[in-house]
Formats: sequence, C-alpha cells, structure tokens
Amino acid sequence: MLDLLITNATLPDGQNHMSIAVQNGKIVELSAHMQTPAHETVDAQGQLVSPPFVDAHFHMDATLSYGLPRVNQSGTLLEGIALWGELKPLLTQEALIDRAMKYCDWAVAKGLLAIRTHVDVCDPRLLAVEALLEVKKRVAAYIDLQLVAFPQDGVLRAPGAMDNLKRALQMGVDVVGGIPHFERTMADGALSVKLLCELAAAQGKLVDMHCDESDDPLSRHVETLAYESQRLGLQGRVVGSHLTSMHSMDNYYVSKLLPLMAEAQLGVVANPLINITLQGRHDSYPKRRGMTRVPELLAHGITVAFGHDCVMDPWYSLGSGDMLEVAHMGLHVAQMTSQAAMRQCFDAVTTHPAKLMHLQGYGLQVGCHADMVLLQASNPVEALRLRANRLKVWRRGRLVASAAPAVSQLFLDQRPAQTQLV
Ligand code: FE2
Repeated sequence: MLDLLITNATLPDGQNHMSIAVQNGKIVELSAHMQTPAHETVDAQGQLVSPPFVDAHFHMDATLSYGLPRVNQSGTLLEGIALWGELKPLLTQEALIDRAMKYCDWAVAKGLLAIRTHVDVCDPRLLAVEALLEVKKRVAAYIDLQLVAFPQDGVLRAPGAMDNLKRALQMGVDVVGGIPHFERTMADGALSVKLLCELAAAQGKLVDMHCDESDDPLSRHVETLAYESQRLGLQGRVVGSHLTSMHSMDNYYVSKLLPLMAEAQLGVVANPLINITLQGRHDSYPKRRGMTRVPELLAHGITVAFGHDCVMDPWYSLGSGDMLEVAHMGLHVAQMTSQAAMRQCFDAVTTHPAKLMHLQGYGLQVGCHADMVLLQASNPVEALRLRANRLKVWRRGRLVASAAPAVSQLFLDQRPAQTQLV
C-alpha cells in the first residue's frame, strides 16, 4: 500500500493523466493512469503538479524589517545599504529569528521549499549568522535553507570582514559570498573575487557573489569571476548574482563575455523585482531596466535562475515569497513572451535554481524526494499568468500547506453564478 497517490496530474513538461506514487517520502513510480491502493489518493483533476519553487537568492536576515528604523527615500541600492547599516546595531537574535520564521511560513504556503539566503557577516558579533543557523535547523523538516557568507560592506573595504567570513564558514555556513562592485576600487573588487574564490576552492565550498549590481557598463567583475572559476577548477560551482551591469555593457564586449561565462560554467541569478526597482535610478529618460541579459545567457547554455532577493526590507517594500510573481516580472522585463521562453521563466524558479544550489533529490522523477506543489492551473504558462493558487504543498510526501481554490461568486443576470479565474 502506497503512502500517497496523486492521479490525473499534468506535469510541467506537458505530460498529462499522470499518476505519482509516493512511499517513504520518495517518488516510487510515475506513469499514466496508474491506480494503486494508497493510504491517501488525491485527484489533481488535470491540474499542474510541479516540483517545489526554489529561490536561489534571498536576504533572510533583512526580511520583514521594512520601515526599521526608517524607509528608503531615494529607492537606491546605496541608500538601502546605508539603511541596513543603521538597522544592524539594533538587531537582536530573537527578532531576526522571529522575522525569518514568519517568512518561512509564507514561503511554505507558496510552495517555496528551498531558499539560498545571503547572511551579512560584517557585524563581528555574527548575530545574523547565529540566528539563521538556528532558523535553518528549525525549518529543516520543510525547507532546505542554504546560507551564504555575505560581506555586505565589502570583504576588503570593511575592517575584519574576511576574518568574520571565515568564522561564519567554520560555524556551518555553506557558501562563500562577495560584493566586488562595493569594494573601493575596481582593482580591490577583482582582488576580492580572487581571494574569495581561492578560499572556496581550499575549503570545498560553493561560491555565490553579488556581482556588478550597478548600471555601470564598465563594472566587469563577472569577467574575473568566470576567469577565477576556471583557473581554480570551480566550474559549475560558482554563481554570479545580479550582473545588472551586463544590461548596460557594450554589445561587442558582451559577445566576448558570454562564451567565457559558458566555458566557466558560471551560473547566473537575476532578481527581476529588485533589478527593475533599484537600477536606472540615476537615469532620466529613457530609464534602463537594469536586469541582466537573460535570454542571451540562456541561449549560450548558461543556467539562469530568478531570485526574490528582498521582501519588505531596506531595499524593497513589497513581496510575499511568491516565486511566480518573481518569474512573472522576469518574463516582462526580459520580454520573454514566446511559449518556450515563458516555460523557461517557470524553470528559472524551479529546476534552474535547484541546479545552482546543488539540491539533491529534487525533481519529478522516480527516486526523487516527494516534494511537490499542486497548482490551480493547467500548465506552467497559466500558472505564471495567474500567479496560481497553491492548492496543496507536499514535503517528503507529507502535506505541509493547502489552500482553497480561488472562486469568485458573481451576481450578474443570466451568467454563471461562479467563476474560477482560469
Ligand atoms: Fe542580494
């Protein structure tokens, strides 16, 4: 007897009438029209069953702090960093944990079951590191939380930051972060990339750097990141996050850069909600969109994910943990409107970030963890269009969230009394 059988499901690749059999937290069979006895059977009614959403770029130490101690007036990245600097001395471990736990609840309700969060290591108390390591433990049963040691004020620019970062890794932080464009000079930025990649190589860690998050066409640390990845044999283990300067770079230079990035197997995370909000702030008109060149990166075989980055914090006042909202914005900003491109946008919040995070057992295949989301939509494009309701969310075959279908009651003459917004 199976633990769980989901019948009549449509999968993201378009296969329909599929049954998914679950035993001991794993997918044990996947085939059309299967009818095997199970303790629980769920009829998906032809709707989409997807592997869970994955967010490869987030800041859980800052989340839900909007307005503390004040709001970002200019809307720029730099005022956000300054504001975070004002907030840092006021942080308590208890408040950090409470806000992060609340966000994790939102995430589960939205079917978001894996998150890579950067955690600022520039405060020598490493309060946020301790808090998020605690959160990681508390949510482990339902969220894969991966931490990045992130020197927000620059690993060379901020006194003691390199030592703090190394201590954070010793405490159990998984990934080496960086922020080369915030160092004092381009040369320091390049040196920071070199030192941090060498540290990761020596310790067998993954790398994920905030890189070239500006509108400056000459901010070219991504080139160094690709070079160091290759030099140190870190192919497939390094991610460049943001890369917004690529939006503004000279086209000839980008035509040389893209193959180098592909050769180094560099992963990329764009953060559409934040990029469209923070970039272009120094422009009059026309205003640049600021997001990196997603379709061109994908065309070069580079894995690109969309991250949420911020929810209600010094940089961004909105957000809800909904990765379909993130992908919806990414689709618009990158003008990825063909059917194939929209499906790539869905992949950018599911399979692509799972690959960048090196998640084990992720996906809808036999032998994978039974982590799944039943959406109120018939396919990935419809899910994006509607930012579809998450009807059921399973982790290791166990139901961890559910929501009633969205149905509106209409009061119009000679019309159906109810309508689903699909
Ligand atoms: Fe970020």
